[in-house]
Amino acid sequence: MKSPAKAILFGEHAVVYGYRAISMAINLYSYVNIKESNDITLYLHNLNKSLTINLEELKTINPLKFGDFKYSLMAIKKVYEYLDINNGIFTEISSQIPVSCGLGSSASITLSLIRGISNFFGYSLTDDEIAELGYQVEKEVQGKASRTDTATITYKGTLEIKKNKMKKINNDLLKSCKFLVVFVENRKKGTSEIIKDVAKCKDKDIIFKEIDALIDEFYNIDDKRILGNLMYRNHLLLKKLNISTPKIDKIVEIGNIYGYGAKLTGAGGGGCVLILVDESREKELINRLINENVKIFDCKVVY
Ligand code: MEV
Repeated sequence: MKSPAKAILFGEHAVVYGYRAISMAINLYSYVNIKESNDITLYLHNLNKSLTINLEELKTINPLKFGDFKYSLMAIKKVYEYLDINNGIFTEISSQIPVSCGLGSSASITLSLIRGISNFFGYSLTDDEIAELGYQVEKEVQGKASRTDTATITYKGTLEIKKNKMKKINNDLLKSCKFLVVFVENRKKGTSEIIKDVAKCKDKDIIFKEIDALIDEFYNIDDKRILGNLMYRNHLLLKKLNISTPKIDKIVEIGNIYGYGAKLTGAGGGGCVLILVDESREKELINRLINENVKIFDCKVVY
């Protein structure tokens, strides 16, 4: 079982205040491989760490006390409770999604587990049930969560999100777009801390309205050059919220010169940049990025 990652095309932070965001499922994946077992064993391939508990322990443990295993254990606990499962599993979890940088790596693993375990035991949960379980896992682990990541990764494609309401959108332009997700640097603050910083920005409402207006423009275009420009304008507005960094700005400028446009994606304070590729200049773009010592992932929207 595999699940994609997500990237926000427009509207991060604005969505926290009830404005729209556009998010997309992208082809970076987490994987789970499940086999029969007497107990519950989780093997985190990327970290080479494993944990075994028995079925009775699963009922009483607090997953939050299990560090790197907390999301996976919470996902297993929730899906076991929901489906009343009483058999053990051995599950290997691996991921190609960079962590803690706005690409939804924990939501992706959570959803791979929920889908993987339910399928393994012969249940076919609906996407709505899966998205809800995924959201419950994120909420219990984080204390507070938005549905952006779990919904985008469950329903795939492109979603408009407003006040936790999701609408799938069918955008032909995005289907033909090639993106690069560039991991620039580790974030120094967590999402909730950055959201608190944004709350202090006195111009935030004007900025969010301008970001929301970009989404109206997005719905009326069919040209990648204009889409790239809208992304760059969204980035400049995020910069006004003080959530960009010099390194992120530098990569955005490269993406803007050698691609159609670029912006930071996610909560900011570091993390990743999303670049819309101009295929006629892709080699130049990649060469420029390689000089910056960043990690580059080729991405498109997955449906
Ligand atoms: C984080 O990826 C994006 C934020 O808008 C928060 C959220 O929507 O959950 C900052």
